[in-house]
Amino acid sequence: MFFRWIERNPFFMAAWISLVIAVAGLIEIVPDFAKAARPVEGLKPYTVLELAGKEVYKKDNCIACHSQLIRPFKSETDRYGDFSVSGEYAYDRPFLWGSKRTGPDLHRVGRYRTTVWHEAHMWNPPAVVPGSIMPAYRHMWKNAADIETAYAEAVTVKNAFHTPYGPGIRKGKEAWEKYKPTVLAQARKVAEEMKGTEGVSKEEVLKMIDSGKVPEIVALIAYLNRLK
Ligand code: HEC
Repeated sequence: MFFRWIERNPFFMAAWISLVIAVAGLIEIVPDFAKAARPVEGLKPYTVLELAGKEVYKKDNCIACHSQLIRPFKSETDRYGDFSVSGEYAYDRPFLWGSKRTGPDLHRVGRYRTTVWHEAHMWNPPAVVPGSIMPAYRHMWKNAADIETAYAEAVTVKNAFHTPYGPGIRKGKEAWEKYKPTVLAQARKVAEEMKGTEGVSKEEVLKMIDSGKVPEIVALIAYLNRLK
């Protein structure tokens, strides 16, 4: 009876079709919203050192030439690895997808580049990749990364968004003083893998860390290594 009636009433028929499509659409879309908000399995929040490196990445505007989003096309997955999924960015505030690829995508660069590779490349890109137009970033050996602000950032996202950081990361100057050696130890580990460049030796880098400062290059490499 219902179908007989509705098929003879174009207006109600149109309304009925819209309703059916809308409901079906919701059934398809809503579960994806729930999934998108969840980190992919095994994803860990950025360490304080990695966050400091991410700040360097933002400050020196790597995003102007590099994206961090691999699209689901064969040409991209052949070159960079698995395409990116939303849950991988759960701890990215903000995410750094970018929209310009003067250089290659960096979302999985940690899979195929190493600490020493980055060290030599950031010091003098054309020495590693002949003909490279990427600028050198030698100031990163002199400048100290702002690990204290990175720590404050970790505290903020922990409290505001329940990012799963351990009990060591909490508000207050004292908590930071207590946590700082952990950050310096991570930095030392990265620096120990480095070789030194013709301008700055490995010993100088280690000395800076032992004096309580992390050179930007060390934080940046920790961040790049983490992009997998
Ligand atoms: C003016 C554009 C430009 C800027 C700004 C720039 N890059 Fe690049 N980058 C390039 C180009 C072009 C390449 C490819 C040639 C090469 O490997 O040197 C590249 C390559 C790279 C690679 C090697 C990737 C691979 O898969 O081989 C890394 C890592 C990288 N850049 C990191 C950075 C970081 C970190 C910054 C910010 C501090 C940065 N780049 C800023 C243009 C740029």
